[in-house]
Amino acid sequence: MTSKNTHRAVFATRIGAIATTVGSAVGLGNIWRFPYEAGTHGGGAFMVCYIAFIFLLGVPVICAEFILGRSSRSNITGAFRLHASHRVWQLTGYMGVLSSLMILSFYSVVAGWTVEYMVQSAIGSLDYGDAAGYHTHFDSFVTGNWRPALWTIVFLAINFAILMRGVAKGIERFSNILMPMLFILLLIFCANSLTMAGAREGLSFLFSPDFSALTPSTMLGALGQAFFSLSLGLGTMLTYSSYFADNTRLGRSALITASLDTVVAILAGVIIFPAVFTFGMSPSAGPTLVFEVLPSIFHSLAGGTVWSTLFFFLLFLASLTSTISMSEIAITFFMEELKMKRRSAVVLNTGIAALFGTLCALSFGCLSDFTLFGLTLFNFFDTATSNVMLPLGGMIISVFVGWKLDRSVLSEQMTCRGATRFRPMRLLVFLLRWVCPVAIGLIFAQSIGIL
Ligand code: PHE
Repeated sequence: MTSKNTHRAVFATRIGAIATTVGSAVGLGNIWRFPYEAGTHGGGAFMVCYIAFIFLLGVPVICAEFILGRSSRSNITGAFRLHASHRVWQLTGYMGVLSSLMILSFYSVVAGWTVEYMVQSAIGSLDYGDAAGYHTHFDSFVTGNWRPALWTIVFLAINFAILMRGVAKGIERFSNILMPMLFILLLIFCANSLTMAGAREGLSFLFSPDFSALTPSTMLGALGQAFFSLSLGLGTMLTYSSYFADNTRLGRSALITASLDTVVAILAGVIIFPAVFTFGMSPSAGPTLVFEVLPSIFHSLAGGTVWSTLFFFLLFLASLTSTISMSEIAITFFMEELKMKRRSAVVLNTGIAALFGTLCALSFGCLSDFTLFGLTLFNFFDTATSNVMLPLGGMIISVFVGWKLDRSVLSEQMTCRGATRFRPMRLLVFLLRWVCPVAIGLIFAQSIGIL
């Protein structure tokens, strides 16, 4: 298959390509969402499912997105239009665009919390003594309406400014320095948590699985978390790979991205859970968990304010590399499908997210009584995307690439047009044809009570 849009930008180096996919994958999903999901789903059993899903389902679906993206050099809808004989497949693209806008909305709220905590740490006012103090503080902050809403908008404005500068230049430069720094900081905090009184209890919570606690909801939670954390099932990896150079090795990039993403999530778990047990907190606090535990950790460290400011700053940047990637889905869609100018596409993407982001921010305060399917707007956006839309998108992508796409496109892409070898080709096809659709289907069926 030859490229459709040869004028599109291409990432300059292989490191650039990997850094950007890792930049998209690593973010609040690893540091904020993973610990809270693992905490509410009982720790160890969740962890085992999560890791299994990342490698058995996640890696093949990343490859599938890469194959579609680089072979079409297009956005998700365009990729399906190019390869599929029936228009119905393009619906996956529309669902991807919708998912990206929903995620951007609630994600910006959490990124806004990060900015608030960064600023508060920097001016030295994030000092509330013990865990109970941090709990009360966070609670009064999120229910306070205007500050969370304001920070959501501020975050989106920064995201907007970067998007206006275009893809390759901005992001590539940015991810290369940023991600290693965050990683080092996480290692330091990890070492610190391992010396805490609750380290043993925290580690056994996370690493000793109690399979009797394995419920359909744990499996669905782990599946959703795997897709969310890998930015998968909505076309992010597809869109990024449409900018990959022809000689970027897709299989290797998929494996590196998934592995690094998983390492960061595990590090976050190793930082959080020992502290949870040391400070006598509950692991199942939900979305607020990390914002109560982390400040308590920083408080107990020498030079806590500096660590805290630096950490929240890096987390804010990691969130930005993720929101940039999710914004690109809708932006490339608006530009390539609706023929908008980049400027208008960026404005529209930001405008929609600003509106729904504000509503999500207020759903902890004045809109907390407004619910959909029994969930606040924030929780609804979070759950509907991660637990339904992304795995469903991934399932369709795997079926399409496994069953429908011409096998020559697969081998052409996985071998860089014959320039390299890709040994596990049959395994990849088997995983895409059978394992991904069947596993995702079974988990869906179980969680709605059909099985
Ligand atoms: N994977 C990102 C994270 O872990 C979130 C994300 C989801 C980014 C979907 C893009 C698309 O933070």
